[in-house]
Amino acid sequence: MPSRRKGKEMSDGEINVSAAEDRVIVFDTTLRDGEQSPGATLTAEEKLEVADALFKLQVDVIEAGFPAASPGDFEAVREIARRSAGTGVTIAGLARAVPGDIERCAQAVSEAEKPRIHTFIATSDIHLKYKLRMTREQVIERVRESVTLAKSFVDDVEFSCEDATRSDREFMAEVFSVAVECGATTLNIPDTNGYTTPIEYIELISWLKDNIRMSDDVVLSVHCHDDLGMATANTLAAISAGARQVEVTINGIGERAGNTALEEVVMALDTRPTVYNGLTTRIVKNRLVPTSRLLSNLTGLAVQANKAIVGANAFAHESGIHQDGVLKERSTYEIMNPEDVGWTGTSLVLGKHSGRAGFRAALKDLGIKLEDDAMQHAYERFLELADRKKHVTGADIEALVADEIVVSGSAIHLDDFSVTSGKGGDANAMVVVSRDGQQFAGRANGNGPIDALLGAIDTALNLETELAYFQVEAVTPGEDAQGQVHMRVRHDGQMYSGHGLATDTVEASAKAYLAAVSHIVTNQPEVVLAATSSTSRWT
Ligand code: KIV
Ligand code: ZN
Repeated sequence: MPSRRKGKEMSDGEINVSAAEDRVIVFDTTLRDGEQSPGATLTAEEKLEVADALFKLQVDVIEAGFPAASPGDFEAVREIARRSAGTGVTIAGLARAVPGDIERCAQAVSEAEKPRIHTFIATSDIHLKYKLRMTREQVIERVRESVTLAKSFVDDVEFSCEDATRSDREFMAEVFSVAVECGATTLNIPDTNGYTTPIEYIELISWLKDNIRMSDDVVLSVHCHDDLGMATANTLAAISAGARQVEVTINGIGERAGNTALEEVVMALDTRPTVYNGLTTRIVKNRLVPTSRLLSNLTGLAVQANKAIVGANAFAHESGIHQDGVLKERSTYEIMNPEDVGWTGTSLVLGKHSGRAGFRAALKDLGIKLEDDAMQHAYERFLELADRKKHVTGADIEALVADEIVVSGSAIHLDDFSVTSGKGGDANAMVVVSRDGQQFAGRANGNGPIDALLGAIDTALNLETELAYFQVEAVTPGEDAQGQVHMRVRHDGQMYSGHGLATDTVEASAKAYLAAVSHIVTNQPEVVLAATSSTSRWT
């Protein structure tokens, strides 16, 4: 962690970017808040894949999950903590301000090279009255007890006032001051509902810096949601006001409209050093695009084409005037270099004659490392793909490798299927699937090929579900592109998600459905986080 040094005081309205550190701490919460995106649930193996990518990206802190939420979350945090040895990355777990959560979190992060407990409680009157049913005095007492308990396990304790931007300032300053007195080392000021604006946030953070006792001894952190589309602007404004930790996610995934996108903050600091007084991060910038793709492939959450930095069109120039300008001098319409953020690997093209050596070289270019077995399997899938698709690109290979992780974690596999459909929507499907070496067959009619196919799977497995979400995305342009399907299905009141990849979108749909169904049979629904309850043994 960078050393803390006191900066000059701020006068009213002045934006002081030189307030403290020369480096901003990047706290990545893709695996916690990001995973709270509807449909983004990752399996344990997928989480480890994302964590490895975050280690390579060199984020400073990984919030690896919410250990008390489920045994799966606990195990994932514990395994990521173990893997952090030698990386210098801090592993944080989230815990409500209740003893059970804090103890569970302490256990989960205990093997990390640098463990952190991140505990929180809401401080807005709305949350106190309707959610917590607690008085302000009770909240202060709870903060005192929980931060003290967290500190008994680890040195590095982060404390957040949930819904900070709608909380009473004086009360919040008192709550934060108590947290510091009890040993908190980072104070997080979340814009939980994406409600604030840049100017208001600057004002709030400056005021808190002046009014929290011993605020100079702790790192101020911000955590913004994007409900009004201002998460990145608010985060950067907060940095200007002296915040030195930013809580962000890859591709900006997260609750509702999402969180601040890591790549946007990192590149804003990098591209506009004079505005942010030379503040830097230690992020390996050319890993931004590969990490974005990996996450999108694993979660099935598509990155919108016009998304800053990592969207497919982020560096595409369509208008003749722009193309002409860029050809003459790139800086006319490009403020960043696409290679700097990792777009290089994407121009890579392979065909079936590239051979094993070409495939290996492509993986290396893309920063993908596979064990021998996985390498052999991925190579076989590459050959199958190259038979169906003339040009296999870097994006295809990334999608394929990510899909391998999804498929290997799947309990049910697609062995065979056929579908016939005609005008008017009438369709007929047959399917053979296998589970633990046993095969099951089913047939069904439906309204269109996908409806018929899912019906056939239901018959084969004797299952009833309701399709809640269905999305198809092409991995690359072109009619022979691989289609990536993302599905969410409801079963017995719980939500399950899955995604599938194939050049045939009907097959990709069957795979996505089977991935979701695998979660049903192995009882792995999307995790719904419970609100902080008032029934802890401290109330
Ligand atoms: O948005 C929020 O307030 C959070 C906290 C738990 C930090 O995610
Ligand atoms: Zn959040």
